[in-house]
Amino acid sequence: MCGIVGYVGNKEAFPVLIKGLYRMEYRGYDSAGVAIVKENEINIHKCHGRVSDLEEFCKDKDVTGTCGIAHTRWATHGEPNDQNAHPHFSSDKKIALIHNGIIENHLTLKVALEKNGYIFNSETDTEVLIHLIEDVKKNENLPLAEAVRVALSQVVGTYGIIVVSSDEPDTLIVAKKGSPVIIGFGKNEYYVASDGAALIEYTNKVVYLNDEEIAVLTPGNDLQVKTIKNKKVSHYAEKLQLSLEELEKGGYPHFMLKEIYEQPRSIADSMRGRLNLKKDVVSLGGIVEYEDRLLNARRIVIVACGTSYHAGLVGEHLFEDLLRIPVEVEYASEFRYRNPVIYEDDVVIAISQSGETADTLAAIELSKKKGATVLGICNVVGSSIARATDAGSYTHAGPEIGVASTKAFTAQVTVLALMALCLADKKKKIPKKQYVRMVEALEKIPDQVKQILQSDEKVKEIASYIKDHTNALYLGRNYNYPVALEGALKLKEISYIHAEGYPAAEMKHGPIALIDENMPVIVIAVNSATYEKVVSNIQEVKARKGKIISIVTEGDKDVAALSDYVIEIPKTEELFTPILTSIPLQLLAYHAAVMCGRDVDRPRNLAKSVTVE
Ligand code: M6R
Repeated sequence: MCGIVGYVGNKEAFPVLIKGLYRMEYRGYDSAGVAIVKENEINIHKCHGRVSDLEEFCKDKDVTGTCGIAHTRWATHGEPNDQNAHPHFSSDKKIALIHNGIIENHLTLKVALEKNGYIFNSETDTEVLIHLIEDVKKNENLPLAEAVRVALSQVVGTYGIIVVSSDEPDTLIVAKKGSPVIIGFGKNEYYVASDGAALIEYTNKVVYLNDEEIAVLTPGNDLQVKTIKNKKVSHYAEKLQLSLEELEKGGYPHFMLKEIYEQPRSIADSMRGRLNLKKDVVSLGGIVEYEDRLLNARRIVIVACGTSYHAGLVGEHLFEDLLRIPVEVEYASEFRYRNPVIYEDDVVIAISQSGETADTLAAIELSKKKGATVLGICNVVGSSIARATDAGSYTHAGPEIGVASTKAFTAQVTVLALMALCLADKKKKIPKKQYVRMVEALEKIPDQVKQILQSDEKVKEIASYIKDHTNALYLGRNYNYPVALEGALKLKEISYIHAEGYPAAEMKHGPIALIDENMPVIVIAVNSATYEKVVSNIQEVKARKGKIISIVTEGDKDVAALSDYVIEIPKTEELFTPILTSIPLQLLAYHAAVMCGRDVDRPRNLAKSVTVE
């Protein structure tokens, strides 16, 4: 949440910063601001709204200068308005700062700073940082980088910050704890950002700052990094694995639609090099060294949030079915605070698209402290979670920009399926014939997704029915109960239509009271062990005049006869149906949101990477 970007070098900073903000806008879009150092003074321009509002606002302002910082905000402390927008100024107007994270002891620090005469102009937690740095700098007569380091040692919380000063007009000072910071190297220039998307246009040579590190970036000087405890650190540049093309809409009206349509490719990419059909072999290089730990695990615990949590629920079915190892799936935010029992022979799997989700990171740290092996399933290469885990597998879905997660979900389920299959074979838990059948079924999935995408027009018709409703119910069982949860999450987060996912049979324990002729009920009723049971659940809805939208296996007649709208998916193994059934639900949410006039890629109150708890 929140995007920070900085530039110092020989170019005009403003265009670099604005472009960087556009690329990171999915991290937050409540307000935006920029600070440019020019001839020993700092010009700050900031406003409530989107990056485009900031660009417009700056049209008649002086934005010249070759050193600057910029911010796009997802509000935590203080409402989204001009005053609370970053950058924040020191009282002598000589230092400016942007921040991503939360300063947890900001109230205590504020009281002390107010006693020292500092006046606060915003309701943000961030403003304490700038006054604290100014206070330390003046009282201890320190150079800026030292003042930042000493100030940060008094701070509790998370931060990714960039600081500029009019006294050092060609230097950026950067620090990180819990929020991502990447430094990019140009020719006599430095770039900084919360993620690679803002840098890739200029450089692919980067350094990922570690927690509690502070860096001084002055063109012409080597990168200088220290820990907050004043210990020198060496970093070696890495190659940023990202391409510019992946960050464009490529002719689609929204990133979400592009990402839905990318799934035949992204799922195939998740399988590439891992599924060898000729030899009937499934292998995941990233976890080879940990296979024995997995095979002998007392338990597998999956921690994740949002859509990644739903993928984890599918993983529970896959691992328990194929491996017969008990699995628990937990919201990372609950797990981290409930003193969970974690054994040293547990394997914890953290799932995250962004690899930056604060609660998931905290759950990883807790599991590591208790001695468990922690593996990651992440999409963003080099992300904090990828680096904090013992080992893991990337999903290789490519950058996901739309706030609503789509291709990340299907890639996560694909990787979980590969993992479960590979381990089941090693553990000799499934007969070879069944294993081969499954490998073959998995290999067909990308083409089957392509086929489902052809039902887009039909889904649009259903969306035009859904868009006029205020509620919707999603039902599924076993492998497709998580898909019901995911379908409901997609609809509510981008169309703002209230939706709930339920295990179909649980309906009669409460939610059935909601059903009347105005309640659309989306039922996943594909071929499965519980198919007949789901048909009965549909009858129960029908008897109460609910409208049935069903997702069925091609050729189905029974459910189709009971339904108001039907979408077919091709035949596959029950284990892999979530990858297919989730596709029409993504399209349904997308079209309903477009028809409701919503900002699909940037739904209200949300941000893509949830880097605060
Ligand atoms: O990056 P992560 O996978 O860790 O993110 C987890 C959730 O924040 C994310 O899935 C969120 O629920 C999406 N907006 C869902 O579409």
